[in-house]
Amino acid sequence: MLEIKNKLPFVEDTSLHDIIKVCQTPFYVYSQKMITHKVEMTKKILGKNIFFSVKANSNQAILKLMNSLGIGADVVSVGELKRSLDAGFPPNKIIFEGVGKSKEDLIYAIQKNIRLINTESLEEIKLLQKLALEKNKIIDIGVRLNPNIDGGTISKISTGKKTDKFGIEINEIEKIVNLISNCNNLNLIGVSCHIGSQISNIDAYKNTFIEMKKAADKFMASGINIKHVDLGGGFHVSYGKNDPKFRIEDVKSELDSQFNSSKYELSFEPGRYLIAEAGILVTSIINTKENGGVNYLIVDAGMNTFVRPAMYNAHHDIETITKKTDNSIQYTVAGPICESTDIFVRNILLSKQTVGDILIIRNTGAYGKVMSSTYNTRSLPAEVLVNKENFAMIYIPEKIEKNIEEDIIPSWL
Ligand SMILES: Cc1ncc(COP(=O)(O)O)c(C=O)c1O
Repeated sequence: MLEIKNKLPFVEDTSLHDIIKVCQTPFYVYSQKMITHKVEMTKKILGKNIFFSVKANSNQAILKLMNSLGIGADVVSVGELKRSLDAGFPPNKIIFEGVGKSKEDLIYAIQKNIRLINTESLEEIKLLQKLALEKNKIIDIGVRLNPNIDGGTISKISTGKKTDKFGIEINEIEKIVNLISNCNNLNLIGVSCHIGSQISNIDAYKNTFIEMKKAADKFMASGINIKHVDLGGGFHVSYGKNDPKFRIEDVKSELDSQFNSSKYELSFEPGRYLIAEAGILVTSIINTKENGGVNYLIVDAGMNTFVRPAMYNAHHDIETITKKTDNSIQYTVAGPICESTDIFVRNILLSKQTVGDILIIRNTGAYGKVMSSTYNTRSLPAEVLVNKENFAMIYIPEKIEKNIEEDIIPSWL
């Protein structure tokens, strides 16, 4: 989404240097045009029932944009539910799931009359029945099934194997049916699944669709009128040239083959796919040093700003916008955090860099700012949204010194 025009970096029609003048690094920049393009393209290929996975990026401006593009919201906490309602998503376009919803979370969701609460355990179904009865309501629910499918992604973002903590094992349908038959306040109308993130293997999608179709049919045969089949998110985004190829059109072909002529309303919950490529992280070099033959560029973004490389070993392309020489130097780009794992990339070739130069970390629109923290007592990053030649700050962090006032000193100190 970052383009070089006349040797200058632009996001859409906005010069990145204009943003840098008013916004202190490190900060995230998102392109409205690119988000819009990804959402429209996904809707065109997979149909209108797309629910943005809010966990990927929950900035209020981004949620408002997603809502204006006509998609729904998939939330995994009451915080995300409140944010989505606040951003204007109609309650009937919000799905609430998550493996650990508390009683208070469920009561809040019941009161808001959202489209579906997707339950993830038999215990949760029992609790929901009790709460719905107490509130004298009949509510629509779904069950998240665990289809026991290995999506072929890294174990830290795999969610669809039977030993993973998510969903109810798909071979427990009979138990669910028996339980639901005694739950007069629950209307089971949906089945859902999500086997993990960064899934590129088309066979994993195919096997998931086969299992989910079978599961929905089994519920139907037991007299439960399943309307919605929610097939999760997880679409693969290419973070670098070594990533496997993925085409969402291939997912659609499998969908058509497996759900051919069935009457279920099919939906998806993508997060990363809709926004990862629409974001960059802009960071300044604050120090350069050579240790044991390694040329370090120390930047002001750290694992507290963007945790994916440290947490998942994720690769993100990094480039400079200040190319001064043609001679490339091998650099390792590291953050300022006192942790050895605070490294963004090792041994990349960049033109010679000096303190104050700017680096761009690509494809950081998803699971970026939402996972940032104040670790090492450092400020959160700002966020900027670009729309053609306009840009707006959509998050301005408080000065970290303010946090000092939030702590409470007990009387004995
Ligand atoms: C239940 C659920 N749905 C959807 C998603 C979105 O996944 P992704 O961002 O890979 O599309 C997630 C994220 O892991 C999830 O837990």
